Amino acid sequence: MYNNFYGNLRDLVVGVNARVPLSNGQLVTGINFDNAATTPPFVSVMQAVTNFAPWYSSIHRGTGYKSQYASDLYENSREAVRAFVGAGPENTVIYVKNTSEAINKLSFRFSNRCKHPVVLSTFMEHHSNDLPWRDKYYVDYIDIDGQGRLILEDAEKKLRKHRGRVKLVTVTGASNVTGFKNPIYEIARLAHKYDAKILVDAAQLIAHAAIDMRPSGSPEHIDYLVFSAHKMYAPFGTGVLIGPTADFEKGEPDYKGGGTIRIVTHDHVKWAAPPQKDEAGTPNVMGVVALQEAIKTINTIGIEYIEKYEAGLLEHTMLRLNPIPDIEIIGREDCCHRVGIIPFNIADMPHQITASALAAEAGISVRNGCFCAQPYVQKLLSVPRREIRRRMRNPSLPHPGLVRLSFGLYNTRDEIDALAAQLNHISRNKEAYLKKYQYVMESE
Ligand SMILES: Cc1ncc(COP(=O)(O)O)c(C=O)c1O
Repeated sequence: MYNNFYGNLRDLVVGVNARVPLSNGQLVTGINFDNAATTPPFVSVMQAVTNFAPWYSSIHRGTGYKSQYASDLYENSREAVRAFVGAGPENTVIYVKNTSEAINKLSFRFSNRCKHPVVLSTFMEHHSNDLPWRDKYYVDYIDIDGQGRLILEDAEKKLRKHRGRVKLVTVTGASNVTGFKNPIYEIARLAHKYDAKILVDAAQLIAHAAIDMRPSGSPEHIDYLVFSAHKMYAPFGTGVLIGPTADFEKGEPDYKGGGTIRIVTHDHVKWAAPPQKDEAGTPNVMGVVALQEAIKTINTIGIEYIEKYEAGLLEHTMLRLNPIPDIEIIGREDCCHRVGIIPFNIADMPHQITASALAAEAGISVRNGCFCAQPYVQKLLSVPRREIRRRMRNPSLPHPGLVRLSFGLYNTRDEIDALAAQLNHISRNKEAYLKKYQYVMESE
């Protein structure tokens, strides 16, 4: 099942041994548990970018050798992306900046002939897979259970409720808050049964679990897929939108300009074919070199190997965190259906203070707050509506939120043990930490 990777995963990633300062001035090796936000680069990615640099050139219409070489590399990379996610030849691979831009683009380009079209989203989406739909469609949300997992029966209930007007079901492959993975193929089956298409936001899946868009004839086919290279160890500003070429042949691009046209006169425009039509301006060739190399490295390690390794980290973390007094782990009962993300709080300790203390006392980087998924976090924490309204009136009030751990393939059990030790100390010495880090709350 696995490719033959026998090396040390840490050797593949830049900066894992970087020393960071603590509040007492001491330098320690930093621990990064903030990989859901962005991952550090692969060594191979940095090498590929450096190796390509002498051949860097503006692509597509240059006659020089470098331009032709770079153009070929850029265009051929689409095949590598396609293969990585099992996208069939009927699809186009459009390069954008990141997942947010990919979803915004699709929200402009997604066309339908329905009079009052509905987009069915979920309660667990990142703002990037919620806000772009709101001003163009009626958006309804599939509900979640007490742990924060999607309720599949509610998806079908809502598809029925809207009587054929749901044109798109848009769902995250894995939540960036809880890590819960959604049954995307079952959801695809449901969406297609009701004549809707499906978009999977793969931002949190792409570097952690295998994705297969499946053939277009299959009921489990994923119609549209989006993800960001910076979450897969290639932080050079490339994102990907994949969808049927035919869909992008129709209509006008959202961004217009260089590279998007075939012929222009002052009163006529003939657009280029996809994907060029949707890639206005000078393409990010370096970003694509980085993405392609990241795919190569992930394939060499084996995505199943990564998935299994990170599942082990998750299990180890649950074992270490569960005994900590007053720790409240969201979705603690379900360790099986998630990527390596764990949100938690320590009772009576503001998330801001826990997160700051981890960094300042132990050099451990996490993220805290709502992770650009406020409706989800509000529901997970059962924040009363009146509290939300109070913060709408006064946005400077501290927000309810969580502390989030998120793993990369280079994290280790020793790092998790160090985290558990520090959390234990925080939990057993709340008064002292509250006093020492009060300034964090005051500066919010
Ligand atoms: C699930 C999910 N969707 C979308 C995004 C947006 O990604 P980007 O910031 O790369 O546009 C994120 C970022 O964290 C995410 O986790």
